[in-house]
Amino acid sequence: MDKIVIEGGIPLQGEVASSGAKNAALPILAATLLAPGIHHLSNVPNLADIRTAKKLLANLGVKFTDHEVLAVDTSRLTSCEAPYALVKTMRAAVLVLGPLVARAGEARVSLPGGCAIGARPINLHLKGLEEMGVRVTLKHGYVEAKVHRLHGAPIHLELPSVTGTENLMMAATLAAGTTVIHNAAQEPEVADLARFLVAMGAEIDGIGTDVLTIRGVQSLSPASHTIMPDRIEAATYLTAAAITQGEVTIRGVPCEHLTAVLDKFQEAGVRLAIEDSQLKVKPAKHLVGVDVMTHPYPGFPTDMQAQFMALMCIAEGASLITENIFEKRFMHVSELRRLGADIVVSGNHALVRGVRCLQGAPVMATDLRASASLVLAGLAAQGVTEVHRVYHLDRGYEQLEHKLSALGARIWRAKAD
Ligand code: UD1
Repeated sequence: MDKIVIEGGIPLQGEVASSGAKNAALPILAATLLAPGIHHLSNVPNLADIRTAKKLLANLGVKFTDHEVLAVDTSRLTSCEAPYALVKTMRAAVLVLGPLVARAGEARVSLPGGCAIGARPINLHLKGLEEMGVRVTLKHGYVEAKVHRLHGAPIHLELPSVTGTENLMMAATLAAGTTVIHNAAQEPEVADLARFLVAMGAEIDGIGTDVLTIRGVQSLSPASHTIMPDRIEAATYLTAAAITQGEVTIRGVPCEHLTAVLDKFQEAGVRLAIEDSQLKVKPAKHLVGVDVMTHPYPGFPTDMQAQFMALMCIAEGASLITENIFEKRFMHVSELRRLGADIVVSGNHALVRGVRCLQGAPVMATDLRASASLVLAGLAAQGVTEVHRVYHLDRGYEQLEHKLSALGARIWRAKAD
């Protein structure tokens, strides 16, 4: 297994560009199942999660031609099953449930189970599908869903689940009648999926809001789409610049989707110049601790909590970080402590007292964003940091160590002992 090795303490300099958004590409790949034919997707990031999604679709009979633009041929489906082996490595595999029942009238999808950051049930996905007429049974660890024809329904989501909204919106595009999803997730990636569905012929109002109205149509056609840039990746590079007191320009940043994040960096003293889709980061004169609470979009994203915590570890004063989305998303804390951070956790609050500097050490990550926070801390730490279990990073960051080396970081991949 590989590890990432970092010799910290170098201020990053230069330019870096965001790749396509993982969390937009995954539901959009699943959505291609809704319309038989050849779809064309651009800016699909080259990530382990995307490779898993392709494997999952290939299992269903989908064919791929991978050039600059990814051609996805969904003409013929040969199976309706998402097996445990794939769902357990990537929870987002559950996104095929809505499209499969809508197109084929049936689906058999492994229940994802818990994961490192929390229980993460899919009860809201299932309840919404039942409201649209789907018969759902749980057998041998699998969700079995069957329907003759989906019908539109009013759906009130108890929580604005991102993949829950996506699954139900996709299913509703082919239902008879109108579906209204109340308390829908407003994440920009949900809107990107909705735009792809509209390009396929779906009728959706309220895109980007918390009420989505979907008028079902008889059939959809294949479409072309460019995946939006990854806001979380962009914000991770912003943190890399800030934590090393570097001066970096990040290109292809969807700044309008990062308002809550950019506000917090500015409040902490990081100097930012925002120009269209470009973000120029200059070092803070005094980096100070600020409090952060995670919320559904447009609030501060849980997917940036761990990275922001790494920055707060070396800020002046204290920062209270509250995680409201996932119950176990502080797994990075004990590893950050190994690098010399002063953090106390109580329930869903973490109190970070800034220290003068972090010190390199071997660390181990348990999830994607926790791994990113350890790499960031390693960039700022004195000496050598080794981040183990690199496969977490490979799930969500395209060429992380190459992009960081191009900014002057001393970072490389090596075989773990
Ligand atoms: C998506 C993102 C993930 C991000 C998360 C929150 C993708 C592929 N993944 O995950 O990167 O961290 O949104 O922004 O887009 N919940 C239920 N029942 C359900 C569904 C969710 O109780 O049926 C709860 C979850 O346990 C969690 C909260 O709702 O506490 C939000 O989860 P959700 O928005 O569904 O996260 P994901 O869609 O899995």
